[in-house]
Amino acid sequence: MNWNHVDPAKVHRLFYPQVPVIVTVERKGRVGAMPAIWCIPLSFKPPLIGLAIAPEHETYNMILETQAFAVNWLDYSHADQVGELGEISGKEYAEKLAAVALTAVKGMENSPPLIQEASAVLECRTRESYRTGTHELIIAEVLGAYAADSFSDYWDFSQYNALLYSGTLTNGKKSWIFMSLQGTTKRVPLEHKT
Ligand SMILES: Cc1cc2nc3c(=O)[nH]c(=O)nc-3n(C[C@H](O)[C@H](O)[C@H](O)COP(=O)(O)O)c2cc1C
Repeated sequence: MNWNHVDPAKVHRLFYPQVPVIVTVERKGRVGAMPAIWCIPLSFKPPLIGLAIAPEHETYNMILETQAFAVNWLDYSHADQVGELGEISGKEYAEKLAAVALTAVKGMENSPPLIQEASAVLECRTRESYRTGTHELIIAEVLGAYAADSFSDYWDFSQYNALLYSGTLTNGKKSWIFMSLQGTTKRVPLEHKT
């Protein structure tokens, strides 16, 4: 194999495409939400997941205060809304989900709100966190997990059209790049509205 040098600032893109999730949180009756691509399982028992989140995000402040968040999987049909959620901040938008026409519903176990349109959801409680550099790794226990009929031990990809994210495109017009499992690509303009 003939390898070319990869800029350290682009190393994370070698991991893509990956499935993004939407992290939801509630503080004082206000619902926050942000897409996260750096979210991974960390342990079977106890069931733990990790979320790497930049401390400048409002969602980070809300998780820090409430120590709880939910994880929501949206399918490819919601690519535009996922991109838009990544453009606006809870610092300026009181109800981010409503701002992108998604619906917040009450969690099952007194947890943060879940997204009604999601194909699967997790209810999580924060255990510990580590500052890793630009991001903070939040380690959380999964208290509840629920999925649509398209998941039964495994996803049935004939029913579930997973959303994949492959990074931002910076040459020409800036955009988030999403892909479907069927290979369709969609660019959502990245214009930072906040
Ligand atoms: C597909 C996608 C994946 C993202 N993944 C992450 C991530 O893993 N960690 C992170 O800190 N920010 C990530 N972001 C950026 C935040 O979601 C974005 O800055 C968001 O607007 C923050 O909103 P908030 O200020 O309301 O928390 C991602 C954005 C997109 C569109």
